[in-house]
Amino acid sequence: MKHKTIIEPFRIKSVEPIEMSTEEQRIDFLAQAHNNLFLIESKKVIIDLLTDSGTSAMSAEQWAGIMRGDESYAGARSWERMRDAVRDLTGCQYIIPTHQGRAGESILYTQLGGKGKVFISNTHFDTTRANIEYGGATAIDCLTKEGQQPALEHPFKGNIDIAKLEAAIIEHGAENIGAVILTVTNNSGGGQPVSMQNAKDVRTICDKYDVLYLLDCCRIAENSYFIAQREGAYKNVEYRKIAQEMFDLVDGSIMSAKKDALVNMGGFIALKSKEIADSCTNTLIIKEGFVTYGGLSGRDMEALAIGLVEVFDKDYLHYRITSTTYLGDKLHQMGVPVMRPIGGHAVYIDAKAFYPHIPVNQYPGQALACDLYIKGGIRGCEIGSVMFGRYDKNGELVSAPMELVRLAIPRRVYTQSHIDYVIETFEEIIKGKEHSQGIKITYEPEFLRHFTAHFERI
Ligand code: F0G
Repeated sequence: MKHKTIIEPFRIKSVEPIEMSTEEQRIDFLAQAHNNLFLIESKKVIIDLLTDSGTSAMSAEQWAGIMRGDESYAGARSWERMRDAVRDLTGCQYIIPTHQGRAGESILYTQLGGKGKVFISNTHFDTTRANIEYGGATAIDCLTKEGQQPALEHPFKGNIDIAKLEAAIIEHGAENIGAVILTVTNNSGGGQPVSMQNAKDVRTICDKYDVLYLLDCCRIAENSYFIAQREGAYKNVEYRKIAQEMFDLVDGSIMSAKKDALVNMGGFIALKSKEIADSCTNTLIIKEGFVTYGGLSGRDMEALAIGLVEVFDKDYLHYRITSTTYLGDKLHQMGVPVMRPIGGHAVYIDAKAFYPHIPVNQYPGQALACDLYIKGGIRGCEIGSVMFGRYDKNGELVSAPMELVRLAIPRRVYTQSHIDYVIETFEEIIKGKEHSQGIKITYEPEFLRHFTAHFERI
């Protein structure tokens, strides 16, 4: 018999209570947090879909590994296990441990970047862009036009536009390109996958112009699942093998292990070039820690080594992607405009289409994120003009290409009943949706403003 219900392929051995709250209480909580969901305490959240990063539930094996963690400063066994797990997956010889993704970005992009340098990506994630720009370099996104249309059905909306990529290399000069960074899956572009063909085409271009090619691989397992489902030739290929084939194409990778390595903290840079790895080592030691732990405890490295294997389990990946799709498809059927098809780690709601009466300079995404919190205690994240907007010379908002709200699903954390509760909350929001009001910013810092900005309802 083929069942319709997607069951979580695990039993729950340890639980964490959720504090319930009322709508009246949440109106207060949100006001105290200046309408910024990053400023709300987690105990005031019922379903936390702010991020899938560092929020995974670890397995019994990983917890067992935690006890095995070797906390030696130099040459710990746990480091050897992490290094070998990363080498085995990526095929890279030179592995640099970092405490999370952005620490690796800061180290690597400081080496490769600086004034006059240009980085090209399908879409730079916010910390990636910030690290590149902070060092004085420029970050250019070259997403395909399919990837920029939320409602369009297309199997690989994370693909980089090869023609635009080549044109950007020619325009800026190959010698000025810091690297081409392929982000899989494309988080800021809707969690959409990148095809193997696209990854190969990027290799061809990088070879033609002798440009460094990197993978931001924090959701590589999810991307591999999509390749197996959607790219004919890979139908019967193991997910891990698909990932390895993609790693073979690139010169190096950078990973926030807080996603597909199923850990709460961790990251690494994996490189084929000794020269680049050596140039990163000094900064690593100054900023993160010694070469055999970076910013990590031995136990973190142990859990990472195990998670990097577990994430490719076929039952896990099937559950992971189909359960995300379950939420997205239900919302879609209810008429909520969601980014199609549903991505791997999150459902992205097109807030501009959901709230057509709220202009982009009144941040419809932030308005929806606040409404979700008030109605259901659900914490999502605006990925639109709050996160990526800029101002022109006259102080007018240059809006982001899309106004999305991301509901990111932590790995192995919530069950189907939690997700049904989210769906029910949307049923309520839809009823009064034309009364939702826009948002204005009352305070903002210079970089990464979404984390600490203050907002008010208009
Ligand atoms: N690259 C991508 C594609 C990411 O999604 C993230 C983090 C990073 C790099 C940075 O890694 O957080 O470990 O420093 N994304 C999280 C998110 C924060 O919520 O999507 P980090």
